[in-house]
Formats: sequence, structure tokens, C-alpha cells
Amino acid sequence: MRALLVDHSVPSGLRLGEAPDPIPASDQVLVRVAATSLNFGEVRHGIANAEDGTVLGWDAAGVVVQAAADGSGPPVGTRVVTLAWAGGWAELRAVSTDMIGIVPEHADLGAISTIPVAAATALRALDRMGPTLGRRILVTGATGGTGRYAVQLARLGGAYVIASTGDPARHGDALRALGAHEVIRSPEEADPGLDGVLDMVGGQQLVTAFDRLGDGGTLIAIGHATEEGERFPFGALINSEGRQDRSLVTFWLMYCRRLDRSLTWLAEQVADGVLSPEIAWRGGWDDAPEAVSALLERRLHGKAVLDLT
Ligand SMILES: NC(=O)c1ccc[n+]([C@@H]2O[C@H](COP(=O)([O-])OP(=O)(O)OC[C@H]3O[C@@H](n4cnc5c(N)ncnc54)[C@H](OP(=O)(O)O)[C@@H]3O)[C@@H](O)[C@H]2O)c1
Repeated sequence: MRALLVDHSVPSGLRLGEAPDPIPASDQVLVRVAATSLNFGEVRHGIANAEDGTVLGWDAAGVVVQAAADGSGPPVGTRVVTLAWAGGWAELRAVSTDMIGIVPEHADLGAISTIPVAAATALRALDRMGPTLGRRILVTGATGGTGRYAVQLARLGGAYVIASTGDPARHGDALRALGAHEVIRSPEEADPGLDGVLDMVGGQQLVTAFDRLGDGGTLIAIGHATEEGERFPFGALINSEGRQDRSLVTFWLMYCRRLDRSLTWLAEQVADGVLSPEIAWRGGWDDAPEAVSALLERRLHGKAVLDLT
């Protein structure tokens, strides 16, 4: 099969080549991939840490061409959205049936391919935070793939949504159109008393956002886009009036259970136009190096989709 292979001798770290067809385990289906999306984490860290010839790729949408031998999961011909540790950047993917969502017939598989890491992370991090109705929630890195889904889902959940981006003048209108009530440049501009924070950035932004939490507030540490450490000043973790019982929670999507249900629900929302996939770049897989550079250089705000034609 054709696949995007890790190749450290080329600037993007990826080249189009041939790889052996995957052999599904008994609880896996084989999917013919129609589209995949790129995520910051796999592009930034995945390529650097993989051996030459590896087929990476967390997200992929396509059609089942071989059902699971153990009888679990969807039959041949079902349109699906899939998540796994690797193997999405290829014509064929073997994937466990508990990491598959069912996709409505009318959906664009390119749009659906944006869901697994970005949308499922936003959804499950909000679940972890707790109730959203009437709560004030800050989303940092809000212009990114995960952040844009987080803004939309928090708004859908009835929250007062504050979106943070390094460039509010450029991205403010788009973020407000997605549901943000306020757009700010950094957590420093957030009023105190937040109920929740979904943090994609880490570093000083995480420390400041934690400081803005009110009683019972929860910060979910999703991302670390800055790659800076977090240094909390003395007093940051001392209870004070109006700021008691705050928590900081680490988050890892692959640790979440029953992702199949989340993926199916999210696919329905994207297919029906309730959620926008926010595709900022779309191309064939020959063009992957262009998307990789844009993501790494903070020029790509939203999702990058590769159509595997
Ligand atoms: N824990 C998990 O399971 C999980 C799941 C999904 C994603 N993640 C992580 O979450 C983060 C966001 O993922 P993503 O796919 O949404 O990435 P993305 O599309 O690249 O978006 C990240 C956003 O953060 C901002 N940003 C980027 N570099 C920054 C920097 N150096 N300083 C401050 N802001 C910066 C940018 O917004 P502006 O330019 O507008 O400021 C960018 O749009 C990544 O670290 C990713 O690895 C973790």
C-alpha cells in the first residue's frame, strides 16, 4: 500500500512510499482510508521520535473493507472515523473496534477526519471538568485544532466561553463566530473566578490561568505547545478566600474509555453542521510537507486535512 513514511533525510521528515499492508488482529477491522488529519503532537514529536520507514498517523476516516474476525465492530462497507497510535497516514489501516465511530452517509470524510484527536480531546476534557451550563470557561490555544472544537463544545454545553489567542485582532471574529463570548490575548487578561480552563499551551499561560480559577475551579492541562516549564510562585497553591478547592488535572486522550461512543456522536455533529471542523488547510498527501511546516511554524490555525486519493 502507499503510505507517508518517516524519512529523516528530507526536511519535512515525511515522504510518500510503499509499506506492507497491515494485518488486522481479531478485534480489528481493516479500513480503506479516504482522509486523515495532522495533529501538532504527532508532527512535532511523533516524526522526531520515530524510526525511518514508520507509518504514523492518529486520525483517519474511511470505509471498512474487512470486518473484525471476533464479530465486534461494524460490517464491510461502513463509513468510519478511527483513532490509533499509528497507521493513519496510509491507504489501509487496521484499527481496534473500540476506537471506531460510525459516520453518517452524508458526511464529508475529510471533515470527519479532523475529529479523533482534536474533537474527542475537547469533548472528553470538558467531561472531565464537570458541568458546563452557566460556567465561565477559558480555552487557551483556542485557534488550534483542539481549541476550536473546545470553544464550540463549551458553548454548546451552555458555558460562558473565553478564548485566548496570541493574535486577537486576527482571530477574534472567527473565534466569536464559533461561540466565544470574549477573546483575549493571554490568561492574564481573564477576570478572576473562572470555573474551568482547558489549557493547550502550558508554561506561564498555565500558571496564570490556574491563578484565575475561582472556588472549586478545575484546569485541565491538555497541551504544552510552548514547551516551557511551569513555575508556580509561592502562594499559588495556598487556599485563599474565593479560591479554595481548585484543581489541576493532567489529561491523556488515549486513557479515556469508550471513545467509540464519543467518535460516533462527534461525527453526527460535524455531519449535521452543529460543529465546524475548521479546516484551515486541505490537500493531497503529496502536499503533506507544506502542512507540516505550517503547523510547526504556528502559521496553521485550525485543522490540516490530507485527502488520500
Ligand atoms: N493530552 C492529550 O491527549 C492531547 C490531545 C490533543 C492535543 N494535545 C496537545 O494540545 C496542544 C494543542 O494541540 P492542537 O492540535 O490544537 O495544536 P495546534 O493546532 O498547533 O494549536 C495550538 C495553538 O496554540 C497556540 N500556540 C502554538 N504555539 C504556541 C506558543 N509557542 N506559545 C503560545 N501559544 C502557542 C497557537 O494559537 P495562537 O497562535 O492563536 O496563539 C495554536 O493555534 C498540543 O500541545 C498538543 O500536543 C494533547
